[in-house]
Amino acid sequence: MATSGDAIRHLWTHKTQDHPWLADEELVIERAEGVHVWTERGKKLIDGFAGLAVVNVGHGRREIAEAIAEQTVRLAYYPTTRQFSNRPAAELAAKIASLTPGDLDYSFFAVSGAEANERAMQMARHYWLASGKPGKHKVISLQGGYHGGTTGTFAVCGLPHLTAAYTDLHVPGFTKVAPPYPFRDRGTGTDEALVQRRARELREAIVKEGPETVSAVIMEPVISSGGFIMPPIGWLRAVRAICDELEVLMIADEVITGFGRTGR
Ligand SMILES: Cc1ncc(COP(=O)(O)O)c(C=O)c1O
Repeated sequence: MATSGDAIRHLWTHKTQDHPWLADEELVIERAEGVHVWTERGKKLIDGFAGLAVVNVGHGRREIAEAIAEQTVRLAYYPTTRQFSNRPAAELAAKIASLTPGDLDYSFFAVSGAEANERAMQMARHYWLASGKPGKHKVISLQGGYHGGTTGTFAVCGLPHLTAAYTDLHVPGFTKVAPPYPFRDRGTGTDEALVQRRARELREAIVKEGPETVSAVIMEPVISSGGFIMPPIGWLRAVRAICDELEVLMIADEVITGFGRTGR
């Protein structure tokens, strides 16, 4: 049965804070399988979006649906709050610890990418409080970067057209620096020179703010919403070195690039 226009008018879709009720009756998605989705009106589309870059393994995987059904009957929900936990959450955390490199041994589960980034910025803040450096609170990010649609993540968002209405809510000092963008900025130079230039600018931005006030640098390894900007090899290593030198934490927002999405 097709959704009536009236029903759609009650659904306020995301990213339309300023103009509700724009859902398109042609784009009511009803079912999916593999890489395809079907609209209620029977149109088959390739889901190049993978949900919202979250359906990594394809739509309609029966074994996942069955595992969810089984778990839902046994225990549909219990929070992992303070001393409480549950077995599936712990097992997933242990699995992630076995897959991630180095000493990345803990997982803190959040309900969205935006919340994950907000929690990461909060953890960075607590790290500095616990280290006796309470002045460190600012977070430096990249122009073109996107970290979620909440007020906290808009403070580090490098896409001004998304955040313009909320700038009065943001605290000063959350500087945005340019990422290395070979296609637009390399010119006749080399990737290496571009990385050095952008790394120097990042370093200067932290020094200008005062490293004693800067808590973290947050960045997407590959900028996604801002135009799929693939940085040259060496950029992340250069950022890591600057963060180590100036005692600033580095937060990698891999909401779009993590866990197999780049093919690795
Ligand atoms: C890099 C990045 N970080 C964070 C987010 C926010 O994720 P969510 O929409 O789940 O809050 C997105 C969403 O597209 C994203 O692209």
